[in-house]
Amino acid sequence: MLANNITVFDQNTMEYDNWFEKHAIIYQSEILALQQAVPKIGNGIEIGVGTGRFAQALNIKFGVEPSENMASVAEQRGIKVIRAAAENLPVKNNTYNFVLMATTVCFLSDIPKAFSEIHRILKPKGKIILAIIDKNSELGKKYEKEKFKNMFYKDASFHSTEEITSLLEQSNFNSFSYWQTLTKINTNEIEQPTKGFGKGSFVVIKAIKN
Ligand SMILES: C[S@@+](CC[C@H](N)C(=O)[O-])C[C@H]1O[C@@H](n2cnc3c(N)ncnc32)[C@H](O)[C@@H]1O
Repeated sequence: MLANNITVFDQNTMEYDNWFEKHAIIYQSEILALQQAVPKIGNGIEIGVGTGRFAQALNIKFGVEPSENMASVAEQRGIKVIRAAAENLPVKNNTYNFVLMATTVCFLSDIPKAFSEIHRILKPKGKIILAIIDKNSELGKKYEKEKFKNMFYKDASFHSTEEITSLLEQSNFNSFSYWQTLTKINTNEIEQPTKGFGKGSFVVIKAIKN
C-alpha cells in the first residue's frame, strides 16, 4: 500500500502536472536556478521524478518514482523510470555522476536513509543536487501555515537550508554550494537566480560525495 504522501500524487497526477502550466513564471525561475547546479554532462537521475517536468527540462534521462501514475507521465516525457522509493533504491553502488531531488525531501519518510542510499549509488566525487522550499522563506511559511488546505502539502514536513545541510554532512557529503530564486512570491517576471540562500523561497543545494 502506498503512503499518504504518494497516494495523493497518484490520485491527482494531472492536477499536479497542470500546476506548471498555470505557474509558468515560477516554473521557469526554478529551472534557471536548477541549471546553475545540474551538470550538463554525465549520467544523472532524478529521485522523486514526479511527472518529469524538471528532468525533461534539464535533460536528465533517468528517474525514480513510487507513484505509478506520476511515473507513466514522466515516461511519456521520455524518461526511463524505476518504480521505487528514495529510502530503498534498486540501483547498484557507484552508478551515477549526479542525483537530483527536487521538492521531494519534504515528503520522505526517512531522510537519512534516503541520503545514505543516494550516497551509495553515486560514483566517487558524485554530486547531489536538492531543491527545497526553505521552511524559513516567505513561501515556506505560507505553505506551512496553509498546508492543511493543500492536498499535496498536507503531509509534507518542510526544512530549512541549514537543517538539510546538516543532514547531508551527517551522510558524508561536503563542498556545499547554494543558489536561490523566488525572492518575491507574487511576481509576473522570471527571476534570475543568485548565489547563496536566505532570501529566496526556492533553494538549490549542491554537495559532493566524500
Ligand atoms: C512535489 S512532487 C515533485 C515531483 C518532481 N520532482 C517535480 O518537482 O515536479 C513530490 C514527488 O515525490 C514523490 N515521493 C513521495 N515520497 C517519496 C519517496 N519516499 N521516495 C521517492 N519519491 C517520493 C511523490 O510521489 C511525488 O511524485
